[in-house]
Amino acid sequence: MNINWTSDLSVGDHSIDDDHKELFALIDELDSADMSHDYINSILDRLKAYTRGHFSREEEYMKNAGFPGLEEHLKQHENFIEWLETIRSTYARFPQSPFIIGDSVNSYLQRWLRQHILEEDMKYRDYIVGQESHGSEQGG
Ligand code: FEO
Repeated sequence: MNINWTSDLSVGDHSIDDDHKELFALIDELDSADMSHDYINSILDRLKAYTRGHFSREEEYMKNAGFPGLEEHLKQHENFIEWLETIRSTYARFPQSPFIIGDSVNSYLQRWLRQHILEEDMKYRDYIVGQESHGSEQGG
């Protein structure tokens, strides 16, 4: 399966969109992994590091915009990091079982990322767009 970022996922900020594209690329790589232990480990490590980086950039962006749903969004990010950490540590403990990184993990990752962007990230996009149009109405 090919996992791509599509323009309907744009949150209106290039650097955040670029982060999301990179996350899709990593998940795509995991999807096509040849199941060698080191390879899977390295992708999971990169996925975790990149996700943490993205989340903190995005959280800063929401904070700067004064987005009121920040706390709720932070919880979503924390839950995902916890889930990913569980997968990583389970895989580290049972490296002889590459099936752990099987279809269910891949489809969860794909679904989660797409849904999170569409349902959660879009909330701050809508808020920021609303603020901007409100500001331009007032400021002319
Ligand atoms: Fe782009 Fe809230 O993750």
